[in-house]
Amino acid sequence: MSDTYEIIERLVQLDVDYIHASLDNLTSKPIDNEGDKSRLELILDKINDRVPLMAAGSVKTPDDALKAVELGLPLIAIGQALLIDSEWVEKTENGQEAEIDTEMKTSKLDQLELPKKLLNFILAAPGWFPISKD
Ligand SMILES: Cc1cc2nc3c(=O)[nH]c(=O)nc-3n(C[C@H](O)[C@H](O)[C@H](O)COP(=O)(O)O)c2cc1C
Repeated sequence: MSDTYEIIERLVQLDVDYIHASLDNLTSKPIDNEGDKSRLELILDKINDRVPLMAAGSVKTPDDALKAVELGLPLIAIGQALLIDSEWVEKTENGQEAEIDTEMKTSKLDQLELPKKLLNFILAAPGWFPISKD
């Protein structure tokens, strides 16, 4: 985490509007283990409210997002889950969590309206996105 801390300090000094952390999972721990805290918690501690933090990392369900908010994360970025279901936010707002699609169905790939280049990239990387044949 020492490199991350150094970058954070420099960005804070530069008076940026926010810092974004691209994490694999918001709950993952650093490989240079520093106790029980996740990377997200350590980054939040380091920033210490000097600049807003945005983070992405396997937020799949509204509950995942809520847990991040409860940890003190002010801005949540959602990658895969939004590409799988572009109505993720609306369904969450309307209490329709059970209707959120959690995987891409091969028969409905066209309906996702993803840029062709991105879709080809996803299809060429098996295991990256959950895709089910139907
Ligand atoms: C289509 C796509 C493009 C991404 N591009 C970047 C990128 O340019 N730089 C980066 O640090 N992370 C990138 N990521 C990783 C995400 O920021 C994030 O850390 C990761 O996907 C886990 O969050 P998610 O489960 O919400 O997708 C990308 C992810 C996706 C799905």
